[in-house]
Amino acid sequence: MTIQFIGRPGIVDLGWGHPDPESLPVTQWAAANASALGRYGWAALTYGAGPGPAPLVDWLCARMAETDGRRPDPAEVFVTGGASQGLELVTSVLTQPGDTVLVDTPTYHLALRVLADHRIHLVAAPVDDIGMLPAATEELIGRLGRVAFVYLVPTFSNPTGASLPADRRRALVGVGARTGVPVVEDDTYRELSYAGPAPDSLWSLDGDAVIRLGSFSKSVAPGLRLGWITAAAPFVRRLADRGFVDSGGGVNHAVALAMAEFGSSGAYARHVDAIRDRYRERRDALAGAVRRHVEAAEFTVPDGGWFLWARLPSTVDTEVLLDRAERAGVAYLPGARFYVDPPSTVDFLRLSFSMLGTAELIEGARRLGRALAERQPAG
Ligand SMILES: Cc1ncc(COP(=O)(O)O)c(C=O)c1O
Repeated sequence: MTIQFIGRPGIVDLGWGHPDPESLPVTQWAAANASALGRYGWAALTYGAGPGPAPLVDWLCARMAETDGRRPDPAEVFVTGGASQGLELVTSVLTQPGDTVLVDTPTYHLALRVLADHRIHLVAAPVDDIGMLPAATEELIGRLGRVAFVYLVPTFSNPTGASLPADRRRALVGVGARTGVPVVEDDTYRELSYAGPAPDSLWSLDGDAVIRLGSFSKSVAPGLRLGWITAAAPFVRRLADRGFVDSGGGVNHAVALAMAEFGSSGAYARHVDAIRDRYRERRDALAGAVRRHVEAAEFTVPDGGWFLWARLPSTVDTEVLLDRAERAGVAYLPGARFYVDPPSTVDFLRLSFSMLGTAELIEGARRLGRALAERQPAG
């Protein structure tokens, strides 16, 4: 097996949160890689600096000054092998087996898998339709006693596509500061904004209370396995002090140097502009087709990210509907997968518009509408 995606003949699969293969910058990356090897020679191929190579760290700081509310200091950056590895690392540093971690609901389902490997208790933080409730979360932290951290995806969330409003961002960061419980902000989708700039990160509001996970998986390519963390300098030093970093050096040194070239040459900014246009168009195609073919679905068109989070009539269990949908030739991710403690019936589903072309997205929505109609015969 060469790649993670497994296609199923006859099925329009709206379940995968993977990039459009045609959007991946093969030629531009080859140029960046050649440029890094030309510029750094052997230094690109030996062990790298623990927190990541300075050319990438410096470029990242400059980029974040444009795309976020605060420019990090280089000492606040640690280059990772992607947001997943960032979460794995942060969890290793902050938790012992048996600890409690609070998570948003719904939230990125595979983050739940990363956390579960650490044998910690996952507890759903209090939420409403808009997102995490800061005051109730603070109260829950008080009741639980020790909480290792709080995890959420506040910007263009997976799975909802929604962003936490500014007042809740401020309040949540205040909870982190008052309680001393770190807020772990998964900021994977920041660059994929389709309606103006993304909201300022939680990290930009308080760099001591928040640990932010960044990623190049959505903005460039997941196969690079490259991302970063911004956090308070002492926490970055703790990460760099890990034994495996001491032993192996920077976690993805050669790719990080190629990324520095990709960034400083202007290729990154051009690429991000191009994929924003591409994904905006696909979002609109899927949203339009769902409106047309799945009339009972309720959803908000997301301002960024890769997902449309739709609610079907409350009598529909989307886990049960999936079987019928697959027989109709379409797949999606049922909403229950994004909950720590799913209720007995979840009427939400996640449709991804990142990987498939416009015609397939429209066909997928048509098939979903058919599967739903078969389930609920007219009259
Ligand atoms: C919210 C969120 N975090 C993390 C990841 C994984 O990021 P990475 O590829 O950088 O490990 C994803 C990918 O789907 C995601 O949606």
